[in-house]
Amino acid sequence: MTRTKDDQFRQVWKKCRRALGGAAFFSLFVNVLQLAVPLYMMQVFDRVLSSGSMPTLVYLSLIAGGALLTMALLDMVRTRIAHRTGNWFETTLSTPVFTAGLNRALDRRVQATDATRDLGMVRGFLTSPGLFSLLDAPWVPPYLLVVFLLHPILGVVATIGAVILIVLAVLNEVLTRAPMREASGVQREAAQRANSAMRHPEAIDAMGMMPAVAARWASINAQALEIQSRAADRSALISAVSKFVRMGVQLAILGVGAALVVHQEMTAGAMIAGSILMGRALAPVEQAIGGWKTLVMAQQALARIRTLFEEAPVRNSGMSLPAPRGEISVEHVSLAFPPSKRLVLNDVSFALEAGTALAVTGPSAAGKSALARLLIGTWKPSGGVVRLDGADVYAWDRTQFGRHVGYLPQDIELYGGTVRENIARMDLMADPMDVVKAAKIADCHDMILRLPDGYDTQVGDAGVVLSGGQRQRVALARAVYGDPRLVVLDEPDSNLDRAGEESLLRAIQNMKERGATVIIIAHRGGVLKVADQVLLLRDGQVEMFEYAARAFGRMAANAAERTASPANDVPVTAGRPAPATIRRSSGAA
Ligand SMILES: Nc1ncnc2c1ncn2[C@@H]1O[C@H](COP(=O)(O)OP(=O)(O)OP(=O)(O)O)[C@@H](O)[C@H]1O
Ligand SMILES: [Mg+2]
Repeated sequence: MTRTKDDQFRQVWKKCRRALGGAAFFSLFVNVLQLAVPLYMMQVFDRVLSSGSMPTLVYLSLIAGGALLTMALLDMVRTRIAHRTGNWFETTLSTPVFTAGLNRALDRRVQATDATRDLGMVRGFLTSPGLFSLLDAPWVPPYLLVVFLLHPILGVVATIGAVILIVLAVLNEVLTRAPMREASGVQREAAQRANSAMRHPEAIDAMGMMPAVAARWASINAQALEIQSRAADRSALISAVSKFVRMGVQLAILGVGAALVVHQEMTAGAMIAGSILMGRALAPVEQAIGGWKTLVMAQQALARIRTLFEEAPVRNSGMSLPAPRGEISVEHVSLAFPPSKRLVLNDVSFALEAGTALAVTGPSAAGKSALARLLIGTWKPSGGVVRLDGADVYAWDRTQFGRHVGYLPQDIELYGGTVRENIARMDLMADPMDVVKAAKIADCHDMILRLPDGYDTQVGDAGVVLSGGQRQRVALARAVYGDPRLVVLDEPDSNLDRAGEESLLRAIQNMKERGATVIIIAHRGGVLKVADQVLLLRDGQVEMFEYAARAFGRMAANAAERTASPANDVPVTAGRPAPATIRRSSGAA
């Protein structure tokens, strides 16, 4: 159900290229009109100075001035086109790139990176002088032709100069592209390390890791800088040589021109005009060498965006279905993380009636959280299918599906905003009464009222720091917001005290009574009190799936044995008065 086509990107880029074609069209006139200055010079030297005619001078000046004014206007138009194209490119693709980035982050094989910065980089290039040096580059040959018309020998000198500059530009590309790519890769890694360190400052501080972490980051950063300066050194050398060549050619034209004038092969005006023309013709090549870095970076950014669209699974949003009742059926589901062949989940099957609660338990790394992500349709199973009311959850329209589903992840993340916005899943138009209702179902209404600004308390990075338990309860309210039919809670009790756990049990009971199917992953035994069924996962396989009452009975029967052979116990314990362990069952259901 994935569409890996990058159609959207291709269409947008095609339109951009067309718009840039428009800018190139205006470049044609800009470049032709730029001939006004050398032509004016030629006429002034050869006609006005020799004849002393003031009317001719005024007349020529008016024509040249008019040409320059028109050129300036057209230059403005092409700059505006480029600017608008760049902005349009970024705004049109910002949401798709953001979503594709998120989708790729969900796709567990690749490391998520912030692709929105790449958009900015491409836009930056499209609105920079670098673009115009590219648009002007095709004008090198026509300018050379004009120099040839002035005098063939001048043309030959100019062509030699142009060839040298173009060779330098190619050399620049060959010598700097690889180190620049390498440097940007290393720089990304350094930025990622810095980010991850900034997110976990306490552990770094408490265990005295500050110097070591800082040193590791600094060494990668230094490495990036070193590679970059290698590229910059080469570029600086080539830039200097190209400047020398361009000015040298201009000088040579004047020198050769003077000799031709002395031999009366050419007029003085043509000599001056040739020199100006030459400077103008070679300017874009020299500029391109100077601005090569931005060009290459923009190109790489564009390539990354293209890859993002090619790789990120675009979820099919076609399948819109009626609201489900909440029947879950997991059919021979398996999951592997390529390239590893190890099955994290192996042929897992079970079914739940609507309105029942299932407790999923098992040792660490048994695959519980992985199963949760398959249940909510975030990951695609490697084999088998998870169905909600008979429909594949992975194929469901995501926005619509989200309205029927509540999920509390193991690592809780609240977003920058108020408690109200977080519970309402960032929907700014949400009815406050629905938010309160969700908080009441999650049994955290009173707790929220005691926060500094109640429901309007800012949380997330810039707001009030909620305790682990408070965060968990707000996240639970978010999971039950909008009366979902399927609720998946991944260790909702890991940070809760006794009162919090009792609230949680009440909340689960509450959801069940509203007809929701609730799946709770838990290490503690407390939730078994409200669960109808129990699923024990071990090494990705179902070791037991049965009614909670039966599981209870078995555990009670095994209680005495437990002290005798603790090695057989599944480590799902916490010192709770309720039956806290599930004995390894030999006869899996
Ligand atoms: N994104 C991922 N890429 C590769 N392997 C993964 C990924 N996520 C989980 N795994 C692997 O899948 C296995 C099951 O992980 P899972 O998070 O489902 O365990 P769990 O049962 O939830 O454990 P815990 O009780 O510690 O939360 C582990 O071996 C883990 O290494
Ligand atoms: Mg887990």
